[in-house]
Amino acid sequence: MLSASLTLDPASTVAPVRRRTFGTFVEHLGRCVYTGIYEPGHPAADEDGFRRDVLALARELGVTTVRYPGGNFVSGYRWEDGVGPRERRPRRLDLAWHSTETNEFGLDEFVAWARKAGVEPMMAVNLGTRGIAEALDLLEYCNVESGTHLSDLRAANGSKEPHGIRMWCLGNEMDGPWQIGHKTAREYGRLAAETGRAMRMVDPGLELVACGSSGSGMPTFGAWEATVLEEAYDVVDFVSCHAYYEEHDGDLASFLASAADMDHFVDAVTATADGVGARLKSKKRIDVSFDEWNVWYLSRFQNAEPPRDWPVAPRLLEDHYNLADAVTLGGLLISLLRHSDRVTSACLAQLVNVIAPIVAEPGGGAWRQTTFHPFAQASRHAAGDVLRVQLDSPSHETARYGTVTALDAVATHDAEQGATTLFAVNRSVDRPLRLTAGLRALGPVRLAEATTLSGPDPYARNTADAQDTVAPRPNADARLDGAALEVTLPPVSWNVIRLARP
Ligand code: AHR
Repeated sequence: MLSASLTLDPASTVAPVRRRTFGTFVEHLGRCVYTGIYEPGHPAADEDGFRRDVLALARELGVTTVRYPGGNFVSGYRWEDGVGPRERRPRRLDLAWHSTETNEFGLDEFVAWARKAGVEPMMAVNLGTRGIAEALDLLEYCNVESGTHLSDLRAANGSKEPHGIRMWCLGNEMDGPWQIGHKTAREYGRLAAETGRAMRMVDPGLELVACGSSGSGMPTFGAWEATVLEEAYDVVDFVSCHAYYEEHDGDLASFLASAADMDHFVDAVTATADGVGARLKSKKRIDVSFDEWNVWYLSRFQNAEPPRDWPVAPRLLEDHYNLADAVTLGGLLISLLRHSDRVTSACLAQLVNVIAPIVAEPGGGAWRQTTFHPFAQASRHAAGDVLRVQLDSPSHETARYGTVTALDAVATHDAEQGATTLFAVNRSVDRPLRLTAGLRALGPVRLAEATTLSGPDPYARNTADAQDTVAPRPNADARLDGAALEVTLPPVSWNVIRLARP
């Protein structure tokens, strides 16, 4: 048995919990839109063709914002194709995913879906094959109240009220050679700055995201952010980060420690942004929008045969997650939360079917993958302020990330409600961990709930027929001992411990 300790002190805070940390992503990719959120004719479909079962799971997941429509897809997308009468909408080739886009579902449908789901829409503009004029058209269509060609067109298409979209991504992964219209940092930085400036002329209150690196392993990582921000610093509010993790060659210990890379990624990007700000003598601070993150078995996708034809909504990137994936995802959430001073927006990529916490079968049921649970618990219980948690934990070596602690944890404290929640992972592959948490600074508390997501098999999964094989269970071992919490965290586990006023 390993043993570790930490102390919770409500006076030591990082930042408020940012509700936008719990965003996700809906891309026109595979079955995320078609037979994911939208499936007219499905027994659970509502009058708009939106699947009620998926809507209910999205609400249960606690999603706050949803990024749309891509992703790589956006770099070839013409938003106009997806508005107006359906019978006039063109079918197009989607080069990013080698699919056919029917355009049966588009912008107005997405905004209507977002309203029903109770989430904030976050829109990406195409800076791959398009530019300033098309971004301005899209903005006019979405946000101008009335009295112009495109705002009146929106009203004529059935949306009288403006969509009022605040948050806009200026392109997607423009550093990636796979991106349609891939650019150098200087080319993209100039285009992002000029597009953003023009968009602000229409609506100064927008929140704009410049593309950062598609991963911390990109050859241009660091230099890309610096150059883009040299061009766009005064225009944008956020720089994006994207990161996907997978277990390589059975190296579970490294995989479980993926948050070490995310920590480094955020620290490096904020340092780079602050460096540019200092050189520009700017008082402004650029935040991080971690608008794509997840576990993704990307190498399986890269090794698979690309589609030969142009299918409509094929099964693509339908990763089937296990317990270890969920624990790793929990660790990534801990990293995002502990960086809440700079990461003020994030999107789990994606919401349904495509590397997603929710699976929806065409004509069939919808169910929760293992990864659903840490996200849902964190979104539900993270409240108030994020606390700075000092850990004292044994550590071990990993091949990818060097020495890492077995325990990783973050806590939130809601002073008004008197609620404190500890989120913790045990990253040891084989040893339980005895945790002692000092609670004296919290004053009198009671144990409201302790759950663990764990089990004998780190590769156990949920299926349509056995949906709760991996789900949070009460951790009966947790108890308060004076001003300390004592709990055993099983190996490869995600744990949530809630303390309340007595
Ligand atoms: O989320 C899947 C893809 O990953 C997105 O389309 C792209 O932005 C990233 O490379």
